[in-house]
Amino acid sequence: MTGVGTMARKIFFCLMGFVLLVSGLAGCSKPVTDHQQVAKNEKIVIKFSHVTAENSPKGLAAKRFADLVRERTGGYVEVQVFPNSTLYKDGEEIDALETGAVQMIAPATSKLSALFPEWQLLDLPFAFPDLQGVHTFMAGPVGRQLLAQFQTKGMLGLAMWDSGFKEMTDNKRPLLKPSDFQALRFRIMPSQVLRDQFELLGASTYEMPFNDVGRALTSGQVDGEENTISNIYTQEFDQSQKYLTLSDHGYLGYVVLTNAQFWHSLPANIRKTLEDTLAEVTQWEWSQAEEVNKRQLAEIEKQGRLHIERLTPAEKQAWEQALRPVYDRLAERIGAGPVNSVKELAK
Ligand code: LMR
Repeated sequence: MTGVGTMARKIFFCLMGFVLLVSGLAGCSKPVTDHQQVAKNEKIVIKFSHVTAENSPKGLAAKRFADLVRERTGGYVEVQVFPNSTLYKDGEEIDALETGAVQMIAPATSKLSALFPEWQLLDLPFAFPDLQGVHTFMAGPVGRQLLAQFQTKGMLGLAMWDSGFKEMTDNKRPLLKPSDFQALRFRIMPSQVLRDQFELLGASTYEMPFNDVGRALTSGQVDGEENTISNIYTQEFDQSQKYLTLSDHGYLGYVVLTNAQFWHSLPANIRKTLEDTLAEVTQWEWSQAEEVNKRQLAEIEKQGRLHIERLTPAEKQAWEQALRPVYDRLAERIGAGPVNSVKELAK
């Protein structure tokens, strides 16, 4: 973990906070310090590891966060972004955060369910009418309680970012009726709700890290997978799959996590700059996620490689009905209260 505890550094950051305050009051938007002149050993380095492409919503937001933080701290804080599982992959990221090998990660919420089973609420099929519905839920009592859970494991949930709603891809047949899933094998993220979802559709599942999915689709190890358009497009799943069903059946989003000890060790003014910048980038990320998914779907359509289906209202209703037992199964595991709070939204 980056050390920031020396007295000299504390004094330095107090002075810097004062300078930032004065320049802010003076309406000065330029960095207060030329970061080129900041000595390497004076910097706070934040390693931000994630698994998606640079041109995914998460990749774009991580990069924007890094750029704004560099600009706003005059280079004193350097956020180094490692996209595409280049530093740590699924299953390694949380350990890396705990040991201080990295300071920020943004895993998909489904991947948190082994440690925090209640996060499977966000995996429930057809739970949220739109992304705004997810944001409202997360800002409410259940969402706040979910975010507070990280503290029990020495982490802090700083923000929620969207990837979007998941669609289905496969290489056997168009997926329109629940029975179309029969005997197919799907790659999933590690979450019992996702296991149950495919089991109820008559399919089997295979859990694997995100960076292995492309290979598994190409080799035929699995027949299909579920993901957002931006992941399908940026990982080129559309190159090895034949069918895409635009089902919007489930949410895929991220928690931006940090190590609590590291975060609290930061000088207060730096922490505030990071938190304000993250809040601003989060708003930007939400609109980017919608735009990027739209733009990349148009690109997939233009390339014409995938056979694309849109569920009719009647088909969607049949999926919803087939998947309803997922809610009761989750209620048995985590309690009916939180599941009912999502059911209310789904009505
Ligand atoms: C997946 O594993 O399919 C996604 O969670 C990857 C991601 O981070 O969007």
